[in-house]
Amino acid sequence: MSVILKANWNYPTTVWAGPGRIAELPGACSALGIKRPLLVTDEGLREAPMVRRALGLVAGARLFARVRGNPVAANIDEGLAAYRAGSHDGVIAFGGGSALDAGKVIAFMSGQTRPLWDFEDVGDWWTRADPKGIAPVVAVPTTAGTGSEVGRAGVVLNEETHQKKIIFHPQMMPRVVISDPELTVGLPPAITAATGMDAFVHCFEAFCAPGFHPLADGVALEGMRLIQTYLPRACEHGADIEARSRMLAAASMGATAFQKGLGGVHAIAHPVGAHYNTHHGLTNAVLLPYVITYNRPAIEGKLAVIARLLDLKGEPFGALFEWVLGFRRRLKIPQTLAEIGVPVEDAELIGREAALDPSACGNPQPADAAAYARIFRAAVKGDLRLPA
Ligand SMILES: [Fe+2]
Repeated sequence: MSVILKANWNYPTTVWAGPGRIAELPGACSALGIKRPLLVTDEGLREAPMVRRALGLVAGARLFARVRGNPVAANIDEGLAAYRAGSHDGVIAFGGGSALDAGKVIAFMSGQTRPLWDFEDVGDWWTRADPKGIAPVVAVPTTAGTGSEVGRAGVVLNEETHQKKIIFHPQMMPRVVISDPELTVGLPPAITAATGMDAFVHCFEAFCAPGFHPLADGVALEGMRLIQTYLPRACEHGADIEARSRMLAAASMGATAFQKGLGGVHAIAHPVGAHYNTHHGLTNAVLLPYVITYNRPAIEGKLAVIARLLDLKGEPFGALFEWVLGFRRRLKIPQTLAEIGVPVEDAELIGREAALDPSACGNPQPADAAAYARIFRAAVKGDLRLPA
């Protein structure tokens, strides 16, 4: 039997969760003093009925739908031009991770005078920003994975360097999130699976990241428990509103937890996505077991906690590893990077870039460029027996 899950949270920002709550979009805008929002969405959603409806709900809203998957700086520049030309006073970031990230970065950049790359997540570079120049954002996720709706950063691809750069500022956090499961029921099973696995990897890597952060650990564990039960349900029964509700929550939990850190899966997925334009969640889902194998010496104790939580029987590492493989099979996630079009030739380059990726700081087992190149090669070829 399905239950209706509706609530307002103020953690980690204001979240209005529940079916049908997109109808409250005008209230969200007026609560933030937004009269002329720019609605930023993915190219693929331009004509979607839910986007047309959202535009119709807020008088004064205009559409910017030129955000590609893995958004590039040109998308941000074009969005900023539209924002300024339309004298907008806030952003509705509406869509999957790419649209949410782009919308947040456009709002952040709307009142800055320095160039975008000055705000990369390096040291205290975020203090270069003028906080008064950051426009308010209402975030409306239409996938359950990225969790960008509760995140303080946006990922933008620098096409000159072929690197994904993280643009960070604490005030990039959306001020109101409308978490409406009805907006996700049309997602096909493959996208539901790939985005949901991104959320799982956020929780998994955050929990395994070293450091003292029991708040993040608790959120990460519950996120994994929810995904174990509800991601298959959402894939197999797309209109299951309870499953869609809990997956939206789990996605927000993943992004909340990874304030603690991420790890090698994201460190490799970022350069792979930058060079081959692969889907972020799918790339993570493929990479996960190869990184678990490499990290084994450092995470056996933590995997025992996860195995207990997921009610897996037997020796914890083996049980958890087999569960991950079986879960991926059930969700029809490919076994190798080769199956998603990634060649092995650039292993050294991917290894170098992975070692430099900010996510690498959270990897529990020390890894250098050569180690990441080895993991990458194993993931392209499907060799799960990678020596540590
Ligand atoms: Fe991710």
